[in-house]
Amino acid sequence: MSAQLDTLYPDHLRTLRARADQVLADAGYDHLLIGAGLPPLKFLDDQDYPFVANPWFRHWLPLTDAPGSWVVHTPGSRPRLIFVQPRDYWHVVPQTPDAYWTREFELSIVPSAAEALAQLPGGHNAVIVADAVAQGFAADPSLASALDALNWQRSSKTAYELELLREANRIGARAHRAAEQAFRAGGSELDTHLAYLAAARQTDAELPYASIVGINTHGAILHYSAFDRAAPELSHSLLIDAGASCAGYGSDITRTHAGPKAWEFQALVDAVDAAQQGFVAKVRAGQDYAQLHLHAHLVLADILRRQGFFRMSAESAVECGVSRAFFPHGLGHMLGAQVHDVTGQQQSEAGGRIDPPAGHPHLRMTRVLQPGMVVTIEPGVYFIDMLLAGLREQPFASDLDWVRIRHFRQFGGVRIEDDVVCTGDAPENLTRDAFAAA
Ligand code: GLY
Ligand code: MN
Ligand code: MN
Repeated sequence: MSAQLDTLYPDHLRTLRARADQVLADAGYDHLLIGAGLPPLKFLDDQDYPFVANPWFRHWLPLTDAPGSWVVHTPGSRPRLIFVQPRDYWHVVPQTPDAYWTREFELSIVPSAAEALAQLPGGHNAVIVADAVAQGFAADPSLASALDALNWQRSSKTAYELELLREANRIGARAHRAAEQAFRAGGSELDTHLAYLAAARQTDAELPYASIVGINTHGAILHYSAFDRAAPELSHSLLIDAGASCAGYGSDITRTHAGPKAWEFQALVDAVDAAQQGFVAKVRAGQDYAQLHLHAHLVLADILRRQGFFRMSAESAVECGVSRAFFPHGLGHMLGAQVHDVTGQQQSEAGGRIDPPAGHPHLRMTRVLQPGMVVTIEPGVYFIDMLLAGLREQPFASDLDWVRIRHFRQFGGVRIEDDVVCTGDAPENLTRDAFAAA
């Protein structure tokens, strides 16, 4: 990982403290308490699900394996980390943190999550932890508006966060290359996934989200989550949506590969790839993301028209819902401490919601882009039987080339997804930069 983190972290923490101070003062809170949380227990069992720390905890410090631990922020004081280190010979005991960030914290080591709770300061506190009431905190009706204000500030990434996202993209790009090789060597979905993990040197549980690795028709299942053990007789296409983690931040990357001799599909992949780069170029301050999503519909519809899937104009295809049958998800979302990061539809610091345009309920990002935001740009074109069946009943059905559409079912679909920083100037494409350097 880049040595720069060392120098960027103190500024990151200073920024977070100043942001929190303002919200605490406005809401009349004494302390901000951020609990890492505890892993959920499997029903009627003595085993946990994998632990994933509260995103707020990961936002404050790069500590991902600290169940039961807390960050305590008190305006005017050094932040405190109450770190749980159980006496336990059954499990790996989290090591006492000693890294570039630890000197910024007052460290208290306690033997249990209960002891960590007991050490939290009293007062009127903003508590951010999963299942707060179940852990004994009083219900707090004013927390929601304080969280709106805090979340809002997370829309603008610090230089430190951008560096974590750059590194998450570098790891992801390396792993995507390995996955493509495994697929081209005749690997199955599981083989491709295992090659990805091996190159990322991350376990499944460490990834920022469950990888989507779909060969052939499986590319048409948007959140395809099975891993076929055997490769099909002929692999026509691979759609792989997989990210990598870096200190609690993750990349979110999709690539689509055409198999040997799948020239027509390759032409569609190339066209979507070129269009995607056009959308990335529009990630500029002042650009309304919902408008960019609608623009993407027009551009993708024009590709489908030019490639002979229908005869109507791109404008008509958007108007009568044809483009939505082929591109049924949003153009992208905010990215940060969470893959689908907070505030994509938030109206202001005070909360509120900017609804997606009518007919586009799945668009998670409806805001105007500002410098410091990181978004994904992930257009797609799919051949989804359920959605195409809806078009067959329409009066314009004869404008579609059903023979060509049926021919493309075997390829599933195309999605190309990059992670992009909105700056004061040209966008920074974290993903393409990482592939270029890999
Ligand atoms: N991998 C989840 C997404 O692209 O939003
Ligand atoms: Mn993705
Ligand atoms: Mn995404």
